[in-house]
Amino acid sequence: MIAAKDRRIWISASDKLLDGHYMRIDVTYAGYPTSVLLFRYKGQCLAYKNQCVHMPRELDCERDMIFDETGQYLRCSMHGIVYEPRTGESVSTMCNGERLTSVRVIEDEEGIWFNDKRVKI
Ligand code: FES
Repeated sequence: MIAAKDRRIWISASDKLLDGHYMRIDVTYAGYPTSVLLFRYKGQCLAYKNQCVHMPRELDCERDMIFDETGQYLRCSMHGIVYEPRTGESVSTMCNGERLTSVRVIEDEEGIWFNDKRVKI
Protein backbone atom coordinates (compact mmCIF):
# COMPACT_ATOMS: atom_id res chain seq x y z
CA MET A 1 0.00 0.00 0.00
CA ILE A 2 1.33 3.43 -0.89
CA ALA A 3 -0.48 6.48 0.39
CA ALA A 4 0.36 10.15 0.31
CA LYS A 5 0.44 12.13 3.56
CA ASP A 6 1.45 15.75 3.31
CA ARG A 7 4.49 15.77 1.06
CA ARG A 8 5.51 12.38 2.32
CA ILE A 9 4.91 9.21 0.35
CA TRP A 10 4.52 6.06 2.36
CA ILE A 11 6.83 3.23 1.33
CA SER A 12 6.67 0.39 3.80
CA ALA A 13 6.17 -0.76 7.35
CA SER A 14 9.47 -0.64 9.22
CA ASP A 15 9.55 -4.37 9.96
CA LYS A 16 9.55 -5.15 6.24
CA LEU A 17 13.05 -3.71 5.88
CA LEU A 18 15.57 -5.64 7.93
CA ASP A 19 19.12 -4.51 8.57
CA GLY A 20 21.33 -5.23 5.56
CA HIS A 21 18.36 -5.63 3.23
CA TYR A 22 17.09 -3.35 0.51
CA MET A 23 14.07 -2.52 -1.60
CA ARG A 24 14.16 -1.34 -5.17
CA ILE A 25 11.32 1.10 -5.81
CA ASP A 26 10.27 2.43 -9.20
CA VAL A 27 9.60 6.17 -9.03
CA THR A 28 9.63 9.33 -11.05
CA TYR A 29 12.61 11.35 -9.90
CA ALA A 30 12.85 14.99 -10.96
CA GLY A 31 10.40 14.17 -13.75
CA TYR A 32 12.18 11.08 -15.09
CA PRO A 33 11.36 7.42 -14.49
CA THR A 34 14.04 5.61 -12.50
CA SER A 35 14.42 3.46 -9.44
CA VAL A 36 15.51 4.21 -5.90
CA LEU A 37 17.39 1.87 -3.59
CA LEU A 38 16.06 1.98 -0.04
CA PHE A 39 18.06 0.02 2.52
CA ARG A 40 18.65 -0.32 6.21
CA TYR A 41 22.23 -0.01 7.40
CA LYS A 42 23.08 -0.38 11.08
CA GLY A 43 19.49 0.47 11.92
CA GLN A 44 19.21 3.56 9.75
CA CYS A 45 17.01 3.81 6.64
CA LEU A 46 18.84 5.40 3.71
CA ALA A 47 18.01 5.80 0.03
CA TYR A 48 19.82 6.71 -3.16
CA LYS A 49 18.86 7.08 -6.74
CA ASN A 50 19.80 3.79 -8.36
CA GLN A 51 22.52 5.12 -10.63
CA CYS A 52 26.24 4.55 -10.35
CA VAL A 53 28.60 7.55 -10.52
CA HIS A 54 30.83 5.73 -13.01
CA MET A 55 28.34 5.13 -15.81
CA PRO A 56 24.56 5.48 -16.07
CA ARG A 57 23.98 1.95 -14.78
CA GLU A 58 21.91 0.72 -11.89
CA LEU A 59 23.89 -0.61 -8.95
CA ASP A 60 22.01 -3.92 -9.07
CA CYS A 61 22.13 -4.26 -12.86
CA GLU A 62 24.23 -7.44 -12.86
CA ARG A 63 23.31 -8.98 -9.53
CA ASP A 64 20.28 -8.78 -7.30
CA MET A 65 22.23 -7.22 -4.43
CA ILE A 66 23.68 -3.85 -3.45
CA PHE A 67 25.98 -4.66 -0.52
CA ASP A 68 29.46 -6.10 -0.87
CA GLU A 69 30.35 -9.44 0.71
CA THR A 70 31.19 -7.77 4.05
CA GLY A 71 27.83 -6.00 4.26
CA GLN A 72 29.68 -2.81 5.21
CA TYR A 73 29.68 -1.11 1.81
CA LEU A 74 27.40 -0.64 -1.15
CA ARG A 75 28.86 -2.11 -4.31
CA CYS A 76 27.95 -1.53 -7.94
CA SER A 77 27.55 -4.89 -9.63
CA MET A 78 28.84 -3.60 -12.97
CA HIS A 79 32.50 -2.71 -12.32
CA GLY A 80 32.62 -2.91 -8.55
CA ILE A 81 32.80 0.66 -7.26
CA VAL A 82 32.32 0.55 -3.50
CA TYR A 83 30.39 3.24 -1.63
CA GLU A 84 30.15 4.23 2.00
CA PRO A 85 26.48 3.55 2.83
CA ARG A 86 25.85 6.59 5.05
CA THR A 87 27.24 9.17 2.61
CA GLY A 88 26.99 7.43 -0.76
CA GLU A 89 30.59 8.43 -1.42
CA SER A 90 32.81 6.25 -3.58
CA VAL A 91 35.74 4.91 -1.57
CA SER A 92 37.15 3.09 -4.59
CA THR A 93 40.06 4.41 -6.63
CA MET A 94 37.66 4.74 -9.53
CA CYS A 95 35.48 7.85 -9.09
CA ASN A 96 36.90 8.37 -5.60
CA GLY A 97 34.91 10.96 -3.65
CA GLU A 98 31.99 11.12 -6.06
CA ARG A 99 28.62 10.53 -4.48
CA LEU A 100 25.41 8.71 -5.27
CA THR A 101 22.36 10.96 -5.38
CA SER A 102 20.76 10.88 -1.97
CA VAL A 103 16.98 10.59 -1.69
CA ARG A 104 15.42 11.84 1.54
CA VAL A 105 13.47 9.29 3.56
CA ILE A 106 12.15 9.38 7.09
CA GLU A 107 11.02 6.67 9.45
CA ASP A 108 8.43 7.12 12.17
CA GLU A 109 6.02 4.97 14.17
CA GLU A 110 3.91 4.40 11.02
CA GLY A 111 6.75 3.24 8.81
CA ILE A 112 9.15 4.48 6.16
CA TRP A 113 8.36 7.43 3.89
CA PHE A 114 9.87 9.29 1.01
CA ASN A 115 10.21 12.91 2.09
CA ASP A 116 11.71 14.30 -1.08
CA LYS A 117 9.86 16.67 -3.40
CA ARG A 118 11.80 15.27 -6.39
CA VAL A 119 10.14 11.85 -5.92
CA LYS A 120 6.73 10.94 -7.30
CA ILE A 121 5.19 7.50 -7.40
S1 FES B 1 28.87 1.32 -13.80
FE1 FES B 1 29.06 1.11 -11.66
S2 FES B 1 31.16 0.69 -11.37
FE2 FES B 1 30.98 1.00 -13.51
